[in-house]
Amino acid sequence: MKRVLVATGGGDCPGLNAVIRAIVKRAAQERDWEVIGSISSFDGILREPTEIRVLDERSVAGIHVQGGTIIGTTNKGGPFAWPVKNKDGSWGSVDRSDEMIRKLQYLGIDAVISIGGDGSQKISQALYEKGLNIIGVPKTIDNDLSATDFTFGFQTAVQIATEAVDKLVTTAASHNRVLILEVMGRYAGWIALHAAIAGGAEVCLIPEIPYDIKKVAEKLSSRFNKGKGHAICVVAEGAVPVGGSLTSEESSEVGYANLRLGGVARKLEMELKKSGFEADMRETVLGHLQRGGIPVAYDRILATQFGVKAFEMVLEGRFGEMVAYRHPDIIAVPLVDAVNRPNFVDPGCDLVRTAKGVGISFGD
Ligand code: F6P
Repeated sequence: MKRVLVATGGGDCPGLNAVIRAIVKRAAQERDWEVIGSISSFDGILREPTEIRVLDERSVAGIHVQGGTIIGTTNKGGPFAWPVKNKDGSWGSVDRSDEMIRKLQYLGIDAVISIGGDGSQKISQALYEKGLNIIGVPKTIDNDLSATDFTFGFQTAVQIATEAVDKLVTTAASHNRVLILEVMGRYAGWIALHAAIAGGAEVCLIPEIPYDIKKVAEKLSSRFNKGKGHAICVVAEGAVPVGGSLTSEESSEVGYANLRLGGVARKLEMELKKSGFEADMRETVLGHLQRGGIPVAYDRILATQFGVKAFEMVLEGRFGEMVAYRHPDIIAVPLVDAVNRPNFVDPGCDLVRTAKGVGISFGD
């Protein structure tokens, strides 16, 4: 019997379970393959006792409909930076990657499929360079990997953000208010841009186009003076004012290396007030609602395609590569390309032109 280990790493994302199910169902067609899930990404391998579980067709039945991941995930630490407490009580980290590779050999693992975003795929590449038979599957609601046309989870996040805009419109209209919706996306404005167009927002602020607060105020005022008397502004968590900086903070969580973004909607409200804008304003931070719940059909299908392809890449021995979607095909790309080329909104792209064409202001 051959064994493939599956791990989900980084922030969760709708569609992870659909990938797991597809890997298991495709592997079951081969008879001589067993699929093992590592709990909480690679932590399950590194913990004592080891936390792994066999994934068979029965255990994955119907999970493509569920959000989250049945094998858990983490965006802290990892094999190259395992958190350890120093003698003085502070936290440091150690590299346990060699130990993990030895343990995988001991467990009889022939190949690994790592489902994760850019951080997880950097780990995949480093493990591959150490000789591990590993294949990547890209995931993130942020859609910020250029090696693939789309990542699964993104369309679900856009749908959730769009529904939030739809809901905000009715209350904004009732109160003649400006409602600001802060959405996720880290340093990419894809969720904000899509939700602003789909929801019909007046203003969309994204990291790739620094905003001028005066221009934002002008757009919102014009809406108030000759328009409907209410307006919606969708702001990406990574949006920055011209000459300004990110709204973020360092995390105090052990092993959490990312900056925590959030709070830009509140900052925007303050800046608008300071600039003399007088309408009533409220802000909504959509947060992790964008990552939870049932994946939309598109994400279930893309995730299923990724899972089947990933297992077929194991059969073909295409290690050091990552599954990607290039319409209309599901292809394999080198992991290095995937981790080195982020996907940001090009301010001159068609989608931005479309948004501007229907009157959406980016504050530029
Ligand atoms: O990368 C996905 C994402 O949801 C970002 O959009 C967001 O900034 C971040 O993860 C939040 O991470 P956490 O779940 O650790 O707060």
